[in-house]
Amino acid sequence: MSVFLDNAATSFPKPDAVYQAMDAAMREVGVAPGRGGYRQSLAAARIVFEARSALARFFGVSDSSRLVFTHSATESINIAVFGLLKPGDHVVSTSVEHNALSRPLHLAAKRGVEVTFVPSEACGVVSEQDIARAMRPNTRLVALAHCSNVTGAVQPIAGIARVARQGGALFLVDAAQSAGFFPIDVEQIGIDLLAAPGHKGLYGPPGTGILAVGPGIVLEPLQVGGTGGSASNPEPPEQMPERLESGTINTPAIAGLKAGLEFIEATGLDVIRARETALVDQLLAGLSGITGVRLYGPLQGERGAAVSFNVEGHDPAALGYLLDSEYDISVRVGLHCAPDVHRSIGSFPEGTVRVSPGFFNTESDIDFFIKALREIIS
Ligand SMILES: Cc1ncc(COP(=O)(O)O)c(C=O)c1O
Repeated sequence: MSVFLDNAATSFPKPDAVYQAMDAAMREVGVAPGRGGYRQSLAAARIVFEARSALARFFGVSDSSRLVFTHSATESINIAVFGLLKPGDHVVSTSVEHNALSRPLHLAAKRGVEVTFVPSEACGVVSEQDIARAMRPNTRLVALAHCSNVTGAVQPIAGIARVARQGGALFLVDAAQSAGFFPIDVEQIGIDLLAAPGHKGLYGPPGTGILAVGPGIVLEPLQVGGTGGSASNPEPPEQMPERLESGTINTPAIAGLKAGLEFIEATGLDVIRARETALVDQLLAGLSGITGVRLYGPLQGERGAAVSFNVEGHDPAALGYLLDSEYDISVRVGLHCAPDVHRSIGSFPEGTVRVSPGFFNTESDIDFFIKALREIIS
């Protein structure tokens, strides 16, 4: 029995329709969208258009041309950070960010942007009031992850959106762990820039991501090149999404992402979240019953589907190795690309064992994992 419990990294497996859509797009369309007037290219463009429209609807983006396809949440965040910020601007972020956001901010700081990392409480949640206190007259951006990939802690983004707006700043949300888990309506919440991966909760393939850019926000592109139209202009086009999407788009991957979203809509976000939450509750109960286990992050209330723990006297890396080699259970160990989170919760430098169930896991997967862990540490 092989058990995959690393859905916070990339969801696996995908719904069958995702594999089928990618296969069909490769075989039947398989060309660059928007680069030719012939039927095959138009069919590719239709897939991309329909995927863009569906994702825009899903995230409450009324103008779908402002939803850009990228390769990952990381790329989306980089486009937002470097496309927006100038030397002298100030950014408010937090001490519990993934490197996908903290590294771009550290690099921006080297280039003359001021950055404040607001510390979190012990459970990994950041208070709206602390964000408000960090705001300055030159704060151009408030940027943070909606949900932690280490602790599952959820930030109060609606309140933080109001703080950002009142302070005249834009609000960038890294929804890597919340897209496809919590409902997110960018216009209702007041999110100006939403970065999300396609390959986690949206069930698309690796190498997909999106960036939603609010009305009127003009970002400098990170890369420029061919966009299909406006070819005689040496400058990148003004119009979206072309401005931020130069180069040939990965149509088969986007076809897969579209099928992933259709799966979510057909199944129901509430149903998906309820199932994953039940698995997380089972996991937390099972782990709490093991002597020597220390759990991190919120133990009750609203949380995401990543659960981190350590076992007294055991190295997390060794536990992960034994779970894989002896039981064929895939979990992630170490810092999970988020060292600052571990510094905040007290698990730096060795990190934690992270278990992240997904929609396709079962109760018996969790039972098997708990039994395996008990055997390893006994
Ligand atoms: C909170 C968070 N932000 C950003 C990322 C980066 O996502 P991607 O791999 O799509 O770049 C991850 C991935 O684990 C994440 O958990």
